[in-house]
Amino acid sequence: MRNVTSENITDTFLSYLGPNTNPRLKEVLTNLSSHLHNFVRETKITHDEWQQALELLKWAGDITDEERNEFVLLSDVLGVSSLVDMINSHPEATSSSVLGPFHVSNAPDMPLGADFKRHYPGQVVLVEGYVKDTRGNPIPGAKIDIWQTAPNGKYSSQDEEQDIYSFHGLFTADENGYYAFTTVRPVSYTVPSDGPVGKLLDATGRHPWRPSHLHYIVKAPGYRSLVTEVFPDDDPYLDQDTVFGVREDLVISYQEQPAGTFPKDGFELSGKVDDSYSRLNFDAILLNTDE
Ligand code: BEZ
Ligand code: FE
Repeated sequence: MRNVTSENITDTFLSYLGPNTNPRLKEVLTNLSSHLHNFVRETKITHDEWQQALELLKWAGDITDEERNEFVLLSDVLGVSSLVDMINSHPEATSSSVLGPFHVSNAPDMPLGADFKRHYPGQVVLVEGYVKDTRGNPIPGAKIDIWQTAPNGKYSSQDEEQDIYSFHGLFTADENGYYAFTTVRPVSYTVPSDGPVGKLLDATGRHPWRPSHLHYIVKAPGYRSLVTEVFPDDDPYLDQDTVFGVREDLVISYQEQPAGTFPKDGFELSGKVDDSYSRLNFDAILLNTDE
């Protein structure tokens, strides 16, 4: 096209795609170019504004390394990560939610009933539940990878005081799909805000807080892997998670239990908890890969 105009630029862009372009890539680019070009036209983006946007992306690139991916965080605070989760979820399975940057691979295998809390202060929380399919059948042997913040609000990878697998563990569901462990309540914390994402949040009067949560990755052969989070129903940031990760079915109440009622066996802490404690029940419902 020799005479490219603001009206024909989208068609021109599409006409440049080669005949062997992957059909899905073509579909994605057709929609992307159409929305992006409309966005520029309708918003009447100026040179200065576009320059600022590109500088923000460059800063995101500069700050990104093996440990920190600012593009993922940008996608999170713009609501794109959560939107991708939502449009790819199934109403009968547990909702998925953001992975976040603090998962540590190869967490140690832990027996059912193991304890994350160790010497950390705070009330004991007994977390238990079942891994099931959408018909309610248990999924024995499902692998449940769980991680959370320590009571100081830090993940192990952010905290020199913790060893790398602190508050991380991999459980294997028993023949009934059951899993259980003990921990302390995770706490609300802020997403990294010393880079371009922080600048964007600041410029738009947004805070960087997330409600406290437990992270889960649940996997079983023949089922779609579930990446999700579980939130307490009394967290002050529940209605304003800066990365839009909260879903109704992921909000659970911690049930206070009287002193002297901690299970006498089956837990690493059995026989060691005399005080009151709380219980959190969370079942993970996985989608069969054929569904
Ligand atoms: C997290 O939950 O760990 C997290 C999620 C998204 C962005 C930053 C942190
Ligand atoms: Fe998190």
